[in-house]
Amino acid sequence: MSCRSIGILLLIALCAECAHAQTARAPELLAQARALAADAEHGKILYLKHCTGCHGHQAWGDGPKQIPALAGQREFYVLRQLARFAARERDSSLMQESIHPADVNRPQAFRDLAAYLSRASRSPRSDHGDGRALGMGERTYRRGCIACHEQSAEGSDGAPIPAIGGQHYYYVLHRLQSFPTLHEGRVEKDVLRLVAALSPDEQQGLADYTSRLTALTAAGAAH
Ligand code: HEC
Ligand code: HEC
Repeated sequence: MSCRSIGILLLIALCAECAHAQTARAPELLAQARALAADAEHGKILYLKHCTGCHGHQAWGDGPKQIPALAGQREFYVLRQLARFAARERDSSLMQESIHPADVNRPQAFRDLAAYLSRASRSPRSDHGDGRALGMGERTYRRGCIACHEQSAEGSDGAPIPAIGGQHYYYVLHRLQSFPTLHEGRVEKDVLRLVAALSPDEQQGLADYTSRLTALTAAGAAH
């Protein structure tokens, strides 16, 4: 075997190794973070230092810019997403860069940030759509989504399932474009078919409907 082919084989072996390390990293980070005690006050310090530029001082997000609200989001969902951004399993160059600094990119920081954000005061309101297809949105939500995302789309800490009630309209609409990947191995085929068959207007109705549910807004917190 020539030196060149040995080199190529070595490269393939190394790439397989690094691909494996990356896929193994998010669950590993998550398990490490979940085993630690949370310090929400420290999470607040980290949040104010690194995150307000995009998610806002109160973590209420920015509707038109498709930046999600984080205040009141499910603790373990936030934790899992931070682990996935860190392991580069979830795409977003903005987020991957934002959690790169050494004081953020570690399990204790993820734990503290998730604890702070899940307890932070919810936004008074979210951005909505134009209200034209709300009836259709509600029907789709009840048929395909309520079983997991729950009545006010408050999600749950089990799977974990994110709260999407009161999440900003454009952000949810943008996330619906990758519905099959986002829900891979989780939803039944009929739900995938239901979402694939939605027209752009119906997708807007669905995102508009969920944006008006109250899980992530102060109206929901009062219940
Ligand atoms: C430069 C802008 C920017 C900064 C700074 C930033 N984020 Fe983000 N963040 C985003 C964007 C954009 C998204 C949506 C990514 C997508 O569309 O998938 C996001 C998504 C998230 C999500 C996923 C929410 C969900 O509902 O799935 C979490 C959690 C998050 N950010 C936490 C943080 C934390 C904690 C910090 C600070 C350490 C931070 N972000 C700093 C832009 C930013
Ligand atoms: C079998 C349970 C299940 C069903 C049914 C389901 N989801 Fe989800 N959904 C999840 C889980 C779990 C996640 C989190 C995935 C992850 O961690 O990346 C999620 C994530 C999402 C997100 C991303 C939220 C964010 O903050 O970025 C949106 C939007 C969403 N679902 C909308 C829907 C809609 C709309 C429906 C119905 C058409 C639906 N889901 C049906 C379990 C479900």
